[in-house]
Amino acid sequence: MKTVKIAILGHGNVGGGLCEILQMNRQLIEERIERKIHVSYILVNNVTKERPWPTLGAKLTDSFDEIVNDNSIEIVIEALGGIEPAASYMRSALEAGKHVVTANKAALAANYPALLEKAQENNRQLLFEASVGGGIPALTAISNPLQGNEFTEVMGILNGTTNYILSKMWDEGLSYDEVLADAQAKGFAEADPTADVEGIDAANKLSILMALAFHVYVHPEKIPTEGISKITLKDIENAKKHGEKIKLIGHGYWEADENGQEILKYHVKPMKFTSEHPIFGVDNEYNAIYINGNAVGQLMFYGSGAGPLPTGSAVLGDLLSIARSL
Ligand SMILES: NC(=O)c1ccc[n+]([C@@H]2O[C@H](COP(=O)([O-])OP(=O)(O)OC[C@H]3O[C@@H](n4cnc5c(N)ncnc54)[C@H](OP(=O)(O)O)[C@@H]3O)[C@@H](O)[C@H]2O)c1
Repeated sequence: MKTVKIAILGHGNVGGGLCEILQMNRQLIEERIERKIHVSYILVNNVTKERPWPTLGAKLTDSFDEIVNDNSIEIVIEALGGIEPAASYMRSALEAGKHVVTANKAALAANYPALLEKAQENNRQLLFEASVGGGIPALTAISNPLQGNEFTEVMGILNGTTNYILSKMWDEGLSYDEVLADAQAKGFAEADPTADVEGIDAANKLSILMALAFHVYVHPEKIPTEGISKITLKDIENAKKHGEKIKLIGHGYWEADENGQEILKYHVKPMKFTSEHPIFGVDNEYNAIYINGNAVGQLMFYGSGAGPLPTGSAVLGDLLSIARSL
Protein backbone atom coordinates (compact mmCIF):
# COMPACT_ATOMS: atom_id res chain seq x y z
CA MET A 1 0.00 0.00 0.00
CA LYS A 2 1.42 3.41 -0.97
CA THR A 3 2.20 5.78 1.92
CA VAL A 4 1.31 9.46 1.42
CA LYS A 5 3.39 11.81 3.55
CA ILE A 6 1.75 14.99 4.72
CA ALA A 7 2.46 18.02 6.92
CA ILE A 8 -0.12 19.86 9.02
CA LEU A 9 0.39 23.58 9.63
CA GLY A 10 -1.27 24.23 13.00
CA HIS A 11 -2.27 21.96 15.86
CA GLY A 12 -5.14 23.97 17.35
CA ASN A 13 -8.84 23.22 16.96
CA VAL A 14 -8.64 22.27 13.29
CA GLY A 15 -5.15 20.74 13.02
CA GLY A 16 -5.73 18.91 16.31
CA GLY A 17 -9.24 17.77 15.32
CA LEU A 18 -7.82 16.39 12.07
CA CYS A 19 -5.20 14.39 14.02
CA GLU A 20 -7.93 13.08 16.32
CA ILE A 21 -10.01 11.77 13.39
CA LEU A 22 -6.94 10.29 11.68
CA GLN A 23 -6.29 8.37 14.90
CA MET A 24 -9.94 7.40 15.48
CA ASN A 25 -10.71 6.26 11.91
CA ARG A 26 -7.26 5.26 10.64
CA GLN A 27 -8.15 1.70 9.66
CA LEU A 28 -11.31 2.52 7.72
CA ILE A 29 -9.62 5.51 6.04
CA GLU A 30 -6.65 3.45 4.86
CA GLU A 31 -8.93 0.67 3.62
CA ARG A 32 -11.13 3.14 1.76
CA ILE A 33 -8.39 5.00 -0.06
CA GLU A 34 -5.90 2.12 -0.25
CA ARG A 35 -3.16 4.44 0.98
CA LYS A 36 -1.43 4.93 4.30
CA ILE A 37 -1.37 8.51 5.58
CA HIS A 38 1.81 9.45 7.42
CA VAL A 39 1.91 12.82 9.21
CA SER A 40 5.59 13.74 8.98
CA TYR A 41 5.45 17.25 10.48
CA ILE A 42 3.14 19.50 12.45
CA LEU A 43 4.00 23.19 12.36
CA VAL A 44 3.29 25.13 15.58
CA ASN A 45 4.40 28.34 17.26
CA ASN A 46 5.50 26.66 20.44
CA VAL A 47 6.97 23.16 20.17
CA THR A 48 7.17 22.66 23.94
CA LYS A 49 3.51 23.48 24.71
CA GLU A 50 1.40 20.65 26.16
CA ARG A 51 -1.23 19.61 23.58
CA PRO A 52 -4.65 18.00 24.03
CA TRP A 53 -4.57 16.37 20.58
CA PRO A 54 -2.62 13.34 19.30
CA THR A 55 0.54 14.15 17.35
CA LEU A 56 0.59 10.77 15.56
CA GLY A 57 4.38 10.46 15.80
CA ALA A 58 4.90 13.60 13.71
CA LYS A 59 7.84 15.91 14.27
CA LEU A 60 6.61 19.15 15.87
CA THR A 61 8.48 22.02 14.29
CA ASP A 62 8.35 25.81 14.21
CA SER A 63 10.20 25.91 10.88
CA PHE A 64 8.04 26.04 7.75
CA ASP A 65 11.24 25.85 5.65
CA GLU A 66 11.93 22.39 7.04
CA ILE A 67 8.54 21.27 5.67
CA VAL A 68 8.62 22.99 2.31
CA ASN A 69 12.15 21.75 1.59
CA ASP A 70 11.25 18.14 2.31
CA ASN A 71 10.53 16.60 -1.09
CA SER A 72 8.81 13.58 0.44
CA ILE A 73 5.86 15.74 1.60
CA GLU A 74 3.10 15.57 -1.01
CA ILE A 75 0.24 17.36 0.78
CA VAL A 76 0.31 20.37 3.11
CA ILE A 77 -2.73 21.08 5.31
CA GLU A 78 -2.95 24.73 6.31
CA ALA A 79 -4.82 25.31 9.59
CA LEU A 80 -2.95 28.27 11.09
CA GLY A 81 -5.45 31.12 10.81
CA GLY A 82 -4.90 34.76 9.83
CA ILE A 83 -3.91 36.01 6.40
CA GLU A 84 -0.14 35.98 6.83
CA PRO A 85 2.05 33.99 6.98
CA ALA A 86 -0.65 31.43 6.03
CA ALA A 87 -1.13 32.72 2.44
CA SER A 88 2.64 32.88 1.79
CA TYR A 89 3.07 29.37 3.15
CA MET A 90 0.34 28.07 0.84
CA ARG A 91 1.98 29.81 -2.15
CA SER A 92 5.39 28.36 -1.28
CA ALA A 93 3.99 24.87 -0.79
CA LEU A 94 2.29 24.98 -4.22
CA GLU A 95 5.50 26.31 -5.82
CA ALA A 96 7.36 23.41 -4.21
CA GLY A 97 4.96 20.99 -5.95
CA LYS A 98 2.84 20.12 -2.93
CA HIS A 99 -0.96 19.91 -2.94
CA VAL A 100 -2.63 22.19 -0.39
CA VAL A 101 -5.77 21.84 1.73
CA THR A 102 -6.87 24.83 3.81
CA ALA A 103 -9.57 25.68 6.36
CA ASN A 104 -8.51 29.31 6.40
CA LYS A 105 -11.23 31.53 4.85
CA ALA A 106 -9.45 34.79 5.72
CA ALA A 107 -6.24 33.88 3.87
CA LEU A 108 -8.12 32.24 1.00
CA ALA A 109 -10.74 34.97 0.44
CA ALA A 110 -8.09 37.71 0.45
CA ASN A 111 -5.87 35.83 -2.05
CA TYR A 112 -8.30 33.64 -3.99
CA PRO A 113 -7.31 34.39 -7.60
CA ALA A 114 -3.56 34.38 -6.87
CA LEU A 115 -3.67 31.10 -4.95
CA LEU A 116 -5.81 29.38 -7.57
CA GLU A 117 -3.47 30.57 -10.30
CA LYS A 118 -0.47 29.33 -8.34
CA ALA A 119 -2.11 25.89 -8.00
CA GLN A 120 -2.85 25.79 -11.75
CA GLU A 121 0.66 26.95 -12.74
CA ASN A 122 2.14 24.16 -10.66
CA ASN A 123 -0.46 21.58 -11.64
CA ARG A 124 -1.38 20.99 -8.01
CA GLN A 125 -4.72 20.84 -6.19
CA LEU A 126 -5.87 23.51 -3.75
CA LEU A 127 -8.95 22.34 -1.82
CA PHE A 128 -10.79 24.31 0.85
CA GLU A 129 -14.09 22.62 1.80
CA ALA A 130 -13.65 23.45 5.52
CA SER A 131 -13.24 27.18 4.85
CA VAL A 132 -17.02 27.72 4.47
CA GLY A 133 -19.57 26.05 6.72
CA GLY A 134 -17.04 23.92 8.66
CA GLY A 135 -18.25 20.33 8.39
CA ILE A 136 -20.96 21.04 5.79
CA PRO A 137 -19.82 19.78 2.36
CA ALA A 138 -21.51 22.56 0.37
CA LEU A 139 -18.47 23.68 -1.65
CA THR A 140 -17.82 20.19 -2.97
CA ALA A 141 -21.52 19.91 -3.84
CA ILE A 142 -21.42 23.21 -5.77
CA SER A 143 -18.30 22.29 -7.70
CA ASN A 144 -19.09 18.61 -8.34
CA PRO A 145 -22.64 17.18 -8.36
CA LEU A 146 -24.22 20.60 -8.95
CA GLN A 147 -21.70 21.91 -11.47
CA GLY A 148 -24.18 21.71 -14.34
CA ASN A 149 -26.43 24.36 -12.79
CA GLU A 150 -26.53 28.06 -13.32
CA PHE A 151 -26.85 29.44 -9.78
CA THR A 152 -29.14 32.39 -9.25
CA GLU A 153 -28.58 32.78 -5.53
CA VAL A 154 -26.36 31.69 -2.64
CA MET A 155 -27.29 32.60 0.87
CA GLY A 156 -26.29 31.41 4.27
CA ILE A 157 -25.93 31.57 7.98
CA LEU A 158 -22.18 31.41 7.67
CA ASN A 159 -21.12 32.20 11.22
CA GLY A 160 -22.07 30.07 14.22
CA THR A 161 -21.14 32.60 16.91
CA THR A 162 -23.57 35.23 15.65
CA ASN A 163 -26.32 32.67 15.11
CA TYR A 164 -25.84 31.46 18.69
CA ILE A 165 -26.08 35.03 20.02
CA LEU A 166 -29.21 35.88 17.98
CA SER A 167 -30.88 32.57 18.91
CA LYS A 168 -30.28 33.08 22.64
CA MET A 169 -31.63 36.65 22.44
CA TRP A 170 -34.80 35.35 20.73
CA ASP A 171 -35.24 32.28 22.95
CA GLU A 172 -34.31 33.68 26.36
CA GLY A 173 -34.98 37.41 26.07
CA LEU A 174 -31.38 38.27 26.97
CA SER A 175 -29.51 41.37 25.75
CA TYR A 176 -26.73 41.23 23.15
CA ASP A 177 -24.06 41.98 25.81
CA GLU A 178 -25.38 39.31 28.21
CA VAL A 179 -25.39 36.61 25.54
CA LEU A 180 -21.98 37.61 24.17
CA ALA A 181 -20.44 37.38 27.67
CA ASP A 182 -22.06 33.95 28.17
CA ALA A 183 -20.88 32.75 24.73
CA GLN A 184 -17.32 33.89 25.54
CA ALA A 185 -17.43 32.08 28.91
CA LYS A 186 -18.56 28.86 27.16
CA GLY A 187 -15.89 29.17 24.43
CA PHE A 188 -18.45 29.74 21.62
CA ALA A 189 -17.14 33.28 21.02
CA GLU A 190 -13.57 34.54 20.77
CA ALA A 191 -12.15 36.90 23.42
CA ASP A 192 -12.03 39.45 20.55
CA PRO A 193 -15.32 38.72 18.75
CA THR A 194 -14.99 41.52 16.16
CA ALA A 195 -14.49 39.33 13.08
CA ASP A 196 -17.60 37.31 13.95
CA VAL A 197 -20.03 39.93 15.26
CA GLU A 198 -19.15 42.57 12.66
CA GLY A 199 -19.72 40.13 9.80
CA ILE A 200 -16.09 40.02 8.57
CA ASP A 201 -15.89 36.23 8.89
CA ALA A 202 -19.20 35.85 6.99
CA ALA A 203 -17.93 38.20 4.24
CA ASN A 204 -14.82 36.03 3.77
CA LYS A 205 -17.04 32.98 3.38
CA LEU A 206 -19.49 34.71 1.03
CA SER A 207 -16.55 35.77 -1.17
CA ILE A 208 -15.47 32.12 -1.49
CA LEU A 209 -19.03 30.85 -2.05
CA MET A 210 -19.68 33.38 -4.82
CA ALA A 211 -16.34 32.64 -6.49
CA LEU A 212 -17.33 28.98 -6.73
CA ALA A 213 -21.02 29.37 -7.54
CA PHE A 214 -20.87 32.40 -9.87
CA HIS A 215 -17.23 32.35 -11.03
CA VAL A 216 -17.02 35.96 -9.91
CA TYR A 217 -14.41 36.90 -7.35
CA VAL A 218 -15.28 39.78 -5.03
CA HIS A 219 -12.64 40.74 -2.48
CA PRO A 220 -14.26 40.44 1.00
CA GLU A 221 -13.47 44.08 1.78
CA LYS A 222 -15.65 45.06 -1.23
CA ILE A 223 -18.69 43.23 0.18
CA PRO A 224 -21.01 45.66 1.99
CA THR A 225 -20.98 44.26 5.52
CA GLU A 226 -23.05 44.98 8.58
CA GLY A 227 -22.78 42.87 11.72
CA ILE A 228 -25.08 42.23 14.68
CA SER A 229 -23.49 44.38 17.39
CA LYS A 230 -26.17 47.07 17.06
CA ILE A 231 -29.11 44.66 17.33
CA THR A 232 -31.07 45.32 20.51
CA LEU A 233 -33.42 43.12 22.45
CA LYS A 234 -36.19 45.47 21.28
CA ASP A 235 -35.37 44.64 17.62
CA ILE A 236 -35.58 40.94 18.47
CA GLU A 237 -38.87 41.36 20.37
CA ASN A 238 -40.39 43.33 17.48
CA ALA A 239 -39.38 40.61 15.04
CA LYS A 240 -40.81 37.95 17.35
CA LYS A 241 -44.17 39.79 17.50
CA HIS A 242 -44.37 39.47 13.71
CA GLY A 243 -43.39 35.80 13.77
CA GLU A 244 -39.91 36.58 12.43
CA LYS A 245 -36.34 35.75 13.40
CA ILE A 246 -33.31 37.92 12.68
CA LYS A 247 -30.32 36.08 11.20
CA LEU A 248 -26.93 37.34 10.06
CA ILE A 249 -26.90 36.43 6.39
CA GLY A 250 -24.33 36.40 3.63
CA HIS A 251 -26.27 36.77 0.38
CA GLY A 252 -25.21 36.86 -3.26
CA TYR A 253 -27.79 36.94 -6.07
CA TRP A 254 -28.35 38.08 -9.64
CA GLU A 255 -30.91 40.81 -10.25
CA ALA A 256 -31.96 42.49 -13.49
CA ASP A 257 -31.34 46.26 -13.68
CA GLU A 258 -33.68 48.68 -15.49
CA ASN A 259 -32.19 47.63 -18.87
CA GLY A 260 -32.80 43.96 -18.13
CA GLN A 261 -29.08 43.34 -17.59
CA GLU A 262 -28.30 40.83 -14.82
CA ILE A 263 -26.19 42.42 -12.07
CA LEU A 264 -24.56 40.51 -9.20
CA LYS A 265 -25.66 41.90 -5.83
CA TYR A 266 -24.07 40.89 -2.53
CA HIS A 267 -24.00 41.83 1.11
CA VAL A 268 -23.63 40.55 4.64
CA LYS A 269 -26.31 41.92 6.94
CA PRO A 270 -28.98 40.95 9.48
CA MET A 271 -32.17 39.85 7.69
CA LYS A 272 -35.62 38.78 8.89
CA PHE A 273 -37.21 35.43 8.05
CA THR A 274 -40.62 33.96 8.73
CA SER A 275 -41.22 30.26 9.35
CA GLU A 276 -41.92 29.77 5.63
CA HIS A 277 -38.21 30.05 4.85
CA PRO A 278 -35.97 27.06 5.74
CA ILE A 279 -33.37 29.46 7.25
CA PHE A 280 -35.90 30.27 10.04
CA GLY A 281 -35.32 26.92 11.74
CA VAL A 282 -31.51 27.15 11.79
CA ASP A 283 -30.69 28.06 15.38
CA ASN A 284 -27.91 28.16 17.94
CA GLU A 285 -24.40 27.56 16.60
CA TYR A 286 -25.59 25.74 13.46
CA ASN A 287 -24.85 26.97 9.95
CA ALA A 288 -26.87 26.65 6.77
CA ILE A 289 -26.03 27.23 3.14
CA TYR A 290 -28.98 27.76 0.82
CA ILE A 291 -28.53 27.74 -2.93
CA ASN A 292 -30.81 28.05 -5.91
CA GLY A 293 -29.78 26.40 -9.18
CA ASN A 294 -31.69 26.61 -12.45
CA ALA A 295 -31.85 22.82 -12.75
CA VAL A 296 -31.81 21.52 -9.18
CA GLY A 297 -34.04 24.23 -7.67
CA GLN A 298 -33.66 25.15 -4.02
CA LEU A 299 -31.27 23.25 -1.76
CA MET A 300 -30.22 23.86 1.81
CA PHE A 301 -27.27 22.30 3.58
CA TYR A 302 -27.43 22.31 7.38
CA GLY A 303 -24.91 21.32 10.02
CA SER A 304 -22.00 22.21 12.26
CA GLY A 305 -20.12 25.18 10.90
CA ALA A 306 -17.23 24.86 13.32
CA GLY A 307 -15.61 22.69 15.96
CA PRO A 308 -12.54 20.46 15.82
CA LEU A 309 -14.20 17.26 14.59
CA PRO A 310 -16.74 18.68 12.08
CA THR A 311 -14.09 20.99 10.59
CA GLY A 312 -11.49 18.23 10.75
CA SER A 313 -13.94 16.00 8.88
CA ALA A 314 -14.11 18.46 5.96
CA VAL A 315 -10.31 18.91 5.89
CA LEU A 316 -9.85 15.16 5.96
CA GLY A 317 -12.29 14.69 3.06
CA ASP A 318 -10.17 17.01 0.91
CA LEU A 319 -6.96 15.36 2.06
CA LEU A 320 -8.25 11.89 1.21
CA SER A 321 -9.56 12.87 -2.19
CA ILE A 322 -6.09 14.20 -3.08
CA ALA A 323 -4.31 11.21 -1.51
CA ARG A 324 -6.49 8.80 -3.48
CA SER A 325 -5.64 10.60 -6.73
CA LEU A 326 -1.86 10.40 -6.23
N1 LIG B 1 -12.08 26.46 14.88
C1 LIG B 1 -13.00 26.13 13.98
O1 LIG B 1 -14.01 25.50 14.30
C2 LIG B 1 -12.79 26.47 12.52
C3 LIG B 1 -13.78 26.14 11.59
C4 LIG B 1 -13.57 26.40 10.22
C5 LIG B 1 -12.38 27.01 9.84
N2 LIG B 1 -11.45 27.38 10.79
C6 LIG B 1 -10.22 28.03 10.34
O2 LIG B 1 -9.12 27.14 10.56
C7 LIG B 1 -7.95 27.89 10.87
C8 LIG B 1 -7.38 27.40 12.20
O3 LIG B 1 -8.32 27.65 13.24
P1 LIG B 1 -8.13 27.03 14.71
O4 LIG B 1 -9.41 27.29 15.42
O5 LIG B 1 -7.62 25.64 14.60
O6 LIG B 1 -6.97 27.98 15.30
P2 LIG B 1 -6.18 27.76 16.66
O7 LIG B 1 -6.90 26.82 17.55
O8 LIG B 1 -5.82 29.12 17.15
O9 LIG B 1 -4.82 27.02 16.19
C9 LIG B 1 -3.85 27.64 15.43
C10 LIG B 1 -2.61 26.73 15.37
O10 LIG B 1 -1.68 27.30 14.46
C11 LIG B 1 -0.41 27.48 15.11
N3 LIG B 1 0.12 28.73 14.53
C12 LIG B 1 -0.53 29.90 14.34
N4 LIG B 1 0.28 30.79 13.71
C13 LIG B 1 1.46 30.15 13.50
C14 LIG B 1 2.69 30.52 12.89
N5 LIG B 1 2.87 31.74 12.36
N6 LIG B 1 3.69 29.61 12.84
C15 LIG B 1 3.52 28.37 13.37
N7 LIG B 1 2.37 27.96 13.94
C16 LIG B 1 1.36 28.84 14.03
C17 LIG B 1 -0.68 27.53 16.59
O11 LIG B 1 0.48 27.07 17.27
P3 LIG B 1 0.53 26.87 18.87
O12 LIG B 1 -0.34 25.67 19.14
O13 LIG B 1 1.95 26.61 19.20
O14 LIG B 1 -0.02 28.12 19.45
C18 LIG B 1 -1.87 26.58 16.72
O15 LIG B 1 -1.44 25.25 16.84
C19 LIG B 1 -8.38 29.35 10.89
O16 LIG B 1 -8.12 29.90 9.62
C20 LIG B 1 -9.88 29.27 11.11
O17 LIG B 1 -10.56 30.39 10.57
C21 LIG B 1 -11.63 27.11 12.11
